[in-house]
Amino acid sequence: MAASRVFCLLALTISLLSVIFTVSGHNITQILSESPEYSSFNSYLSQTKLNDEINSRTTITVLVLNNDAMSSLAGKHPLSVVKTALSLLVLLDYYDPLKLHKISQGTTLTTTLYQTTGRAAGNLGFVNVTDLKGGKVGFGSAAPGSKLDANYTKSVKQIPYNISVLEINAPIIAPGILTAPAPSNNMTELLEKAGCKTFASMLASSGVLKTYESTVEKGLTVFAPSDEAFRGVPDLTKLTQAEVVSLLEYHALAEYKPKGSLKINRNVISTLATNGAGKYDLTTSTSGDEVILHTGVGPSRVADTLVDETPLVVFKVDKVLLPIELLGKSPSPAPEPVSTPTPTPSAKSLSPTPTKSPSPPVAASPPAPPADESSEEAPSDSPTSSENIRAKNAAFHVNTHAYFTAMVTLAATSLFL
Ligand SMILES: *[C@@H]1O[C@H](CO)[C@@H](O)[C@H](O)[C@H]1NC(C)=O
Ligand SMILES: *[C@@H]1O[C@H](CO)[C@@H](O)[C@H](O)[C@H]1NC(C)=O
Ligand SMILES: *[C@@H]1O[C@H](CO)[C@@H](O)[C@H](O)[C@H]1NC(C)=O
Ligand SMILES: *[C@@H]1O[C@H](CO)[C@@H](O)[C@H](O)[C@H]1NC(C)=O
Ligand SMILES: *[C@@H]1O[C@H](CO)[C@@H](O)[C@H](O)[C@H]1NC(C)=O
Repeated sequence: MAASRVFCLLALTISLLSVIFTVSGHNITQILSESPEYSSFNSYLSQTKLNDEINSRTTITVLVLNNDAMSSLAGKHPLSVVKTALSLLVLLDYYDPLKLHKISQGTTLTTTLYQTTGRAAGNLGFVNVTDLKGGKVGFGSAAPGSKLDANYTKSVKQIPYNISVLEINAPIIAPGILTAPAPSNNMTELLEKAGCKTFASMLASSGVLKTYESTVEKGLTVFAPSDEAFRGVPDLTKLTQAEVVSLLEYHALAEYKPKGSLKINRNVISTLATNGAGKYDLTTSTSGDEVILHTGVGPSRVADTLVDETPLVVFKVDKVLLPIELLGKSPSPAPEPVSTPTPTPSAKSLSPTPTKSPSPPVAASPPAPPADESSEEAPSDSPTSSENIRAKNAAFHVNTHAYFTAMVTLAATSLFL
């Protein structure tokens, strides 16, 4: 008797513990997939990658629209406009039904995801929540003179205090968002204005701009190094034409991956230059709200979002992304000691630079027993294990790197002559 009770207790404890240790954040796609009435809303969250942004945050409220209410947006506007409208429905605060009805003074302004894009002028990125008479709660743009466009209808799901999902009966429309002018689709112009002239000019002269343009409809992410970034890189004139193409293709992904998606990424990312498993790929890490890209040679910080208009996102990065595959090819001419009396061997007699070892199957590795949580879940601000291995390989090329640095200004200058 006692033994079976102990056993039951143990079993309960173990199952409780496993629940605690396996819960890791929320999945808005999963939450909404339980209700077919939100299928349209859910599909747009995925298409615009707002789902990643939502999953990367806690203490938020998602105001959802059922398929009827969504029909005023769905298919009637460009995806980028729908994304803006849906960003206004993600409140950066936790409102459960109880809190909705307990707003002090009966009315408040709350920050939305749209505010975090930097594109919301004035208080366009805020939403007015007002407790109306008769138990209703109204929502509207915080822009002066706006009316309350929508009313709270019901609660969908709460995970206190991480995420609350509430249904409202209409979109919240901030002035001007539906008629926002189409963003400039002239990549050259955009990059030049943002201080990425060197990159823009290389894209044009190499023909890689055309590759980018042919990809953009299906999704394109560009990491554009700033002009300053080109002052700290290897001599690009040493690269063959094909290598320059690879380098530039390495700066883009054939998919739409806005900041929120980069933030939650735990996989190795293929670039346009990827030509086989584990080639020309990138890993990411985060530090607070920042995203760091890792090539195996060095880190580069995502400094700014220049454009985020689904399906195109262009980031400015503070370092040129140097693929280990390109640096690995050129044997380092730098490390000869000056005092060596014997003639140094010619470059040809140098043994080939070690090639990159196969990347460990980070994403595909079988789940480890839950006991060793710490090694499974690397802290979000440290590079992944594949990154560490590649970083070690990269150490062989440090001298190459330093040697090249001196040539950089030349290379950059020649682009404009
Ligand atoms: C979230 O749930 C969806 C649908 O169940 C699933 O396809 C997706 O992989 C999940 N995302 C994450 C990050 O677990
Ligand atoms: C919210 O909108 C209502 C109705 O337009 C208005 O009376 C109220 O002052 C607004 N609340 C805030 C905090 O601006
Ligand atoms: C919201 O509720 C108020 C009060 O009942 C009503 O006057 C208003 O028309 C409703 N608005 C919408 C968009 O349903
Ligand atoms: C809420 O979020 C925290 C931190 O992001 C996480 O550790 C916790 O497991 C989440 N709680 C639930 C119930 O999902
Ligand atoms: C894009 O902008 C650049 C620089 O302003 C200009 O030279 C070029 O002609 C434009 N291209 C197109 C297709 O409009």
